[in-house]
Amino acid sequence: MIEIRSATFVVSNTDVSKCPQDGLPEYAFIGRSNVGKSSLINMLTGRKGLAMTSATPGKTLLINHFLINRQWYIVDLPGYGYAQRGRRVQEQIRRIIESYVLHRGQMTCLFVLIDSRHSPQAIDLEFIEWLGENAVPFALVFTKADKLKPGALKANVQTYLLHLEGQWEELPPSFITSAETRRGREELLEFIAGINKQVSENQLK
Ligand code: GTP
Ligand code: MG
Repeated sequence: MIEIRSATFVVSNTDVSKCPQDGLPEYAFIGRSNVGKSSLINMLTGRKGLAMTSATPGKTLLINHFLINRQWYIVDLPGYGYAQRGRRVQEQIRRIIESYVLHRGQMTCLFVLIDSRHSPQAIDLEFIEWLGENAVPFALVFTKADKLKPGALKANVQTYLLHLEGQWEELPPSFITSAETRRGREELLEFIAGINKQVSENQLK
């Protein structure tokens, strides 16, 4: 398991071309506004105030880089689908997300966060489909697991995966998490450690 020895904010950007160019492996977190991206990042790193969280949706508006153990990055992305933001800002955010996801070569896995309380939502399903079309490596992270009873949680996650199974030959990796109880932390860090290892082995070749 990865021990988080250091986690530091590096830079915020609106433009993927201005992001760090050191080639370190990076893991980005995306999903609807308010799904719990920033909270999850704080839970994973064990640093409460690292990524800014808020009960009001639309808090994160930039591409935020955090350097972990001086070896890899966590990236906090703006949420999609927050209608109250107004069309111009929404369009701006859509462009930031799109250029990051399609052009960030060192992004090794995109974690797509899904609120475990809801049935599959069109906006998330469309986003996932778009990732598939563009061959973007991703994993699913069900958030806010503490807000549901175990039976309901299990049923919701199963419904979601069943829905995807109808469309995909292979299901993406998936994780159940809670920023409150820290559920899923070890599994996610383990998964990241595995990819980091692959990346460094490939660099030696
Ligand atoms: P934007 O940056 O606005 O797109 O939102 P975000 O996806 O970064 O969400 P954020 O982490 O700011 O969390 C949104 C709200 O959900 C906050 O009030 C959090 O306290 C709450 N929240 C996030 N994760 C959890 C969780 O696992 N359990 C519970 N109970 N609440 C959570
Ligand atoms: Mg946020």
